[in-house]
Amino acid sequence: MQILSPEAKAAPLEARGLIKSYRLGSVETRALDGLDLRIEPREFVSVMGPSGSGKSTLLNLLVGLDRPSAGEVLVEGVPLSTLDEDGLTALRRTRVGVVFQAFNLLPGLAAQENVELPLRAAGASRREATERARAMLVAVGLGERLRHRPDELSGGQAQRVAIARALVIEPAIVVADEPTGSLDSESGTGVLRLLRRLNEEQGVAILMVTHAPAAAAHADRIVTMCDGRVVSEDRPRATPSVAMRGLA
Ligand SMILES: Nc1ncnc2c1ncn2[C@@H]1O[C@H](COP(=O)(O)OP(=O)(O)O)[C@@H](O)[C@H]1O
Ligand SMILES: [Mg+2]
Repeated sequence: MQILSPEAKAAPLEARGLIKSYRLGSVETRALDGLDLRIEPREFVSVMGPSGSGKSTLLNLLVGLDRPSAGEVLVEGVPLSTLDEDGLTALRRTRVGVVFQAFNLLPGLAAQENVELPLRAAGASRREATERARAMLVAVGLGERLRHRPDELSGGQAQRVAIARALVIEPAIVVADEPTGSLDSESGTGVLRLLRRLNEEQGVAILMVTHAPAAAAHADRIVTMCDGRVVSEDRPRATPSVAMRGLA
């Protein structure tokens, strides 16, 4: 039993003893095999691991798109097992931002409209959604691209729109699955620097899956998975530590 001091903040995201088994006919695959992971407030964590090690399965469970066979996911201390489907949807709309490899923007909508959508879904007025979407697009360097549709943007710009969409709800954590996987190295570096800057300036925690060591090196902590478990942890950036940045 954990005793919380009044100022103790719940971790934005925590996985406890996660097990996920898939059954196809008589074959059972244990994609996650008792995985523990805790992301601290303001922390930027990269998850690496070979293909088939369970990274995508983990992300699906962390954002509540699928349920574990055993174990628990907690977002800001709330166990997802206590939420029904509507509760999970509401959680994804308000507390967890998701960034995909393929951007997943709505093709018929302008950049600004894509970023307004999650705010409107969460109940913001049209006027508030417009103002916040614009400010967020300016923050990711796309103030001149508000009216562009996804097919009128470069890959790197499209991913920055997707990052603006994930961040505009002021989530506790952003979960990103290979966010630079579809980009050339220069655009990819730009996207990683942007994630790092937003992490530092807005204090949002980030969990990023990547198989590129250079991408992972932007994180405070690199967690390596194999066969559904965490097998090693590494801190690539000696300073400033998360704790030091918290005090600054
Ligand atoms: N829907 C599914 N049905 C059956 N097996 C699955 C399913 N999704 C993933 N798996 C299996 O679970 C393991 C982990 O997959 P995944 O989480 O996609 O790994 P990664 O993202 O690290 O490549 C793999 O062995 C994969 O074949
Ligand atoms: Mg995967």
